[in-house]
Order: sequence, then structure tokens, then C-alpha cells
Amino acid sequence: MPTIKVENVSRYYWQKREGWFWKRRKEIGVEDVSLTVEQGEFVYIIGSSGSGKSTLLNLMAGQDKPSKGAVYIESENVADLRKARGRKLPLLIGYVSQQHTLDRGKTVGEALEAAARVGYRKFGGKKELNHRIQKALGITGLSGMQDKYPGMLTAGECRRVELARALINSPPILVLDEVTANLDADSMWDVFLLLNEINAMGTTIVMSTHNINYVNMVRRRVITLVDGRLYSDEIKGRYGEVKKK
Ligand SMILES: Nc1ncnc2c1ncn2[C@@H]1O[C@H](COP(=O)(O)OP(=O)(O)OP(=O)(O)O)[C@@H](O)[C@H]1O
Ligand SMILES: [Mg+2]
Repeated sequence: MPTIKVENVSRYYWQKREGWFWKRRKEIGVEDVSLTVEQGEFVYIIGSSGSGKSTLLNLMAGQDKPSKGAVYIESENVADLRKARGRKLPLLIGYVSQQHTLDRGKTVGEALEAAARVGYRKFGGKKELNHRIQKALGITGLSGMQDKYPGMLTAGECRRVELARALINSPPILVLDEVTANLDADSMWDVFLLLNEINAMGTTIVMSTHNINYVNMVRRRVITLVDGRLYSDEIKGRYGEVKKK
């Protein structure tokens, strides 16, 4: 089963300076971060806004390439898997970005079908494809919604469609960036409970969140970033109670 290894990863963004076009300012996304996530773990990535959570999750999900270091899943470099544009990455990692990414012109069913087609060969024919779509809708509490467009759904439902799309190919790893942001309390708890269930079935979950209550209540591994650096890594952490490593 896949272990994620983040090895001395840094990601810098180069900003052009006004009037100093020959000079560029180095913005730190993350710097020299190393960590290992074993299969089946549930890990929260926390830290204040701009601390590097999205940068780290993007790198772990192979959506971006580190400036230094590398992310490995087993022996495969994740950035290379992305470059190969094959089916391997989406079958390995389900990813939900902080930005909402649903195409407003596609129904829920169409969005899920496009994602499920990636795993088509792995899972068999058309019947199996429909079965997977129905199952993903069922798990995320969206049964009967396949003909709706994103504009007809609440923010919480849209987030759940993105989750359904991430898990439709049953990847062993889910990387989720603020999936509960901007949700009302009920929808948020629904999503948290759903993630707990998915994790209980063996799926690794790495997610960023600002939700203090949930992190404190569930007591999972908590990784805290400060200014792009790994500040602490607590096996059963609490928000705001971090000890430096
Ligand atoms: N595309 C980009 N270009 C330039 N700088 C960036 C870019 N993306 C991120 N940064 C910078 O990298 C740092 C980390 O940003 P990141 O988005 O990873 O933080 P975050 O912890 O996810 O914040 P938030 O809680 O607001 O989502 C910030 O200083 C940010 O300004
Ligand atoms: Mg972010």
C-alpha cells in the first residue's frame, strides 16, 4: 500500500518587482518540508493563511512541481506521474483543490462520468461506470442529483460533488484542500463524518482545514506549518497547542 514521502521539499514563487524588471523577489510557498504519511492515516495540515498549506497539498497531489526536493509515493516521483499525463496519478490520488473547479456547463452526472472514464479500463464496461457514479453519489449524499447543474446546487452540495469526483476511482489516497470552507455547520459536519467513514475503510486522507473544533475533537495527526516551514507534527494533536519538534 502506498506511503507518501515528502523529502526536503521547497517551492518558491518568483514575483516580478515593480520597476525592477531584471530582479525578481522570491516568495516562499514551502521550505525544506519533510514528512511521511503511511497508508490509512488521517492527517490534518493546519496553519494560518499563507503558511503554505495549499502549496504543500498541491505538491503532494502532484499538481505542482517542487523547486527543490521531491514527493514520492512508494518509489514513484509524483511530479513525473503528473508529467506523464497517464491514468496513474488520478487512480492513485483523489484531489480536491481549494478553488472550486466544477464546470458550470456540465451536469453532476457528466462531471462524474468524465472522471470515472479515467478508471474505465480498470473497472470494466459502461454498466460498471454507471454503478460507480451511483455509488459515489450515494456515499456523498447526492443520490438523484446527477442531472443538476452546479448553479442549481448549494455550496455544500458542490463541494460534495467535487469529493464524489475525487473518490470515484477509489484511489488509496485523498488530498483535500479546505473542503469544508464556506459550508454551513450541518454540511460541514456531514463532510467530516463522511471523510471519517472513508478513512475507516482504509483510504489515506491528507487535508487542510481551519476548523478548530473538529481538529480538537477528533484528535488525529496534526501537522502545523508556519511561514512555509514544518513547525510541528503531533500524532494526536490539538489546534493551538503545538510543541515545537
Ligand atoms: N501562485 C503563486 N504565486 C505567488 N505566490 C504564491 C502563489 N501561491 C502561493 N503563493 C504564496 O505562497 C505562500 C503560501 O501560500 P498558500 O496558498 O500555500 O497558503 P495557505 O496556507 O494555503 O493559505 P490559505 O489558508 O489562505 O489558503 C503565501 O505567501 C502565498 O502568497
Ligand atoms: Mg490554501
